[in-house]
Amino acid sequence: MTIPALPAQPRARARGPVGVDTTRPSIARVYDYSLGGKDNYEVDRTAYRHIERIAPRYGDLALMNRRWLSRVVRYLAGTAGIDQFLDIGAGLPTALNTHQIAQYENRHARVVYVDNDPLCAVHGSALLAQNDNTHYLRGDLLEPGTLLENPEVTRYLDPDRPIAVLTCALLHHLDDHLDPATVVREYTTRLPCGSFLATTNFWGPAGEDPELHTLATQLEHAFTASGLGTARYRTREQQLEYFDGLQLIAPGLTELDDWWPAGPPTRTRAPEQRLILGGVGFKQPPPPPKIHHPR
Ligand SMILES: C[S@@+](CC[C@H](N)C(=O)[O-])C[C@H]1O[C@@H](n2cnc3c(N)ncnc32)[C@H](O)[C@@H]1O
Repeated sequence: MTIPALPAQPRARARGPVGVDTTRPSIARVYDYSLGGKDNYEVDRTAYRHIERIAPRYGDLALMNRRWLSRVVRYLAGTAGIDQFLDIGAGLPTALNTHQIAQYENRHARVVYVDNDPLCAVHGSALLAQNDNTHYLRGDLLEPGTLLENPEVTRYLDPDRPIAVLTCALLHHLDDHLDPATVVREYTTRLPCGSFLATTNFWGPAGEDPELHTLATQLEHAFTASGLGTARYRTREQQLEYFDGLQLIAPGLTELDDWWPAGPPTRTRAPEQRLILGGVGFKQPPPPPKIHHPR
């Protein structure tokens, strides 16, 4: 008996793991590409090039953001003595991830990574399979309640002890109608005293530098036009709202390379390198009650 030949199959196109949409660019994968990573597809590289046409040094921004994150985590795990980290919108694993920096300062430090992009959890879990103090889960900053009550988080992090919540290069991807300041406040009000919030957000310096703000507006449009969705370049005042109820650690909300840099600057920044701010907030213990001494 002759077996009929199967019809010719079309050549396989670039496919990702289950749940990964390779027909549309994703923030996580575009960011990975801008950091020199390999976990991205042509659709992501095309989106990145669209943004790069407006801001040729745009790739430096991702590196600056990672360097900022490194300095902050070193500070938190070292100087501030924090041993629990919740890194939300963590992205695809890259060089010098939060757990590597924190556990270099304190090998018992626990880190939970969360991202809503399916590829991040796939790669993150594979990277961390051997690290008992680190966990990567797929989840959403906006999940009902907060991630602080998620059993997969509380399995690793004790919600009654100080935690550093990191939302680096994440909040600008939330549209204004989602009210990111209120979202963040839901986290910070639930955190115990002694906790920290570290965050970076694209900067729209409307009142401070109108010329620079024009570039911010162009970039905001480029994100939407390239299919990447929201990237809100918020003013300094808007970003300060993230730290409501917290003490802003010196030097405050600054351009990234001004936050405890490795040394004095010798080069002028490209305009696009300036369009992101970062800050670290501390949840102080309440002041001790005043004792009235009877006369
Ligand atoms: C630009 S990357 C930043 C990665 C990393 N935090 C850093 O600073 O290097 C932003 C990440 O946030 C994730 N993200 C966006 N919206 C999110 C949400 N609502 N909840 C969790 N993650 C989200 C994206 O998938 C992406 O991986």
